[in-house]
Amino acid sequence: MCFSNVIGNRVPVERINTYFIRKYSIAVDILRLDQVDPLISGNKWFKLKYFLIEAHSRKIRTLLSFGGAWSNHLHAMAAAGYRFGFQTIGIIRGEKPAKSSAMLQDAERWGMRLIYVSRADYKKRYETEYQHALLKQLSLSLDQLMIVPEGGSGEQGVRGCEDILDAGSIQASEYDEIWLACGTGATMAGIIRSAGSDTRVRGVAVLRGAGFLKDDIQQYLSPTATRWNLELDYHCGGYGKTTPGLIQFILEFERETGVPLDPVYTGKLFFALKKMAQLGGLSGISRLLLIHTGGLQGRRGFREWAT
Ligand SMILES: Cc1ncc(COP(=O)(O)O)c(C=O)c1O
Repeated sequence: MCFSNVIGNRVPVERINTYFIRKYSIAVDILRLDQVDPLISGNKWFKLKYFLIEAHSRKIRTLLSFGGAWSNHLHAMAAAGYRFGFQTIGIIRGEKPAKSSAMLQDAERWGMRLIYVSRADYKKRYETEYQHALLKQLSLSLDQLMIVPEGGSGEQGVRGCEDILDAGSIQASEYDEIWLACGTGATMAGIIRSAGSDTRVRGVAVLRGAGFLKDDIQQYLSPTATRWNLELDYHCGGYGKTTPGLIQFILEFERETGVPLDPVYTGKLFFALKKMAQLGGLSGISRLLLIHTGGLQGRRGFREWAT
C-alpha cells in the first residue's frame, strides 16, 4: 500500500500582504496545508500517517477514534479508511442529533461506523475498563484494531507533524517565528521538534483556559527546547465559540487575500496575528510563517458558510 501519494507535490507557500501587517514591514508566508488533499486535509494527513503505516504493518484492518459531531480528525480518518481500505469506527461525544451534521453524513458515507456515547462515558474513553466494555459491545478484541487518540495526537501524531515543514520545503531558519493554531498541541510539538533552535514557534490556543497545554506539549520535547510559547488569550470565548468580530475578520480576510479560513482554528490564528499587530506585539519579527492547518470542512457548521 502506498501512503506517500497523499502528498504528491510540494505543499504551496503563499506570501500575503494584508492591510493589517503592511505598515510593520513583515513578510508573512502561509504554508497551505489546506491544499494537501481535498479530504485528508491540513495537519490531518501528518497526524494520521504513522498510525496508518503501523496498522498496515501489523495487519490491523480497523481504526477506532473519538471526537465531536464536527471533528476534523474523524472526518479525515473516515476518508483515509475509505481510501486505503480500513474499517473505521467513530465514538461520538453526546446524543445522536435529530439531524446528522454534514461531517457525520460524510463519515457514514465513507463507511465509518458511528457510536454515540454520553458525555460522561466519553470522559472515560482512555480508561482500560471502559475500552474493554466498548470492544465487547463491538465484538472486537484489542489486537484486531488500533485505537487512535482523539485528534490524532500521541507520539505517532507528533512524529507525523515533524514532517510538515519538509513537505513545504521550508527552511525554518529563514523565519523568525512560525505560528499555528493549537487544540491538543500535538502539531505544535512536531513543529517545535523539527524547527531547530533558531526559530521561535508560537501556538495560538483555540480553547479557553488552555494553560495545561504547556505540559502536554513539553512531554514530547527535550528539556532544551525552549524557543516556543503559547498565546492563551485569542480563543474568542472557547472551543468552537465565535464572536461577531472574528466572523467579520474572516470574511474580510478571505475577500482580501483569497485564503479561506475556518472559525474554529485558522480563523483564530490569523485574528490573533491582527490583534497582536495592533498591540505592538510583533516587534523583532521580520519574517513570519503561519501554518494553515486546514479544517475547512468545519465551516459547514456555521450559518455564515452553511450550504
Ligand atoms: C484544522 C485544525 N487546525 C489545528 C488543529 C490543532 O491541532 P492539534 O490538536 O495538534 O493542536 C486541529 C485539530 O487537530 C485542526 O483540526
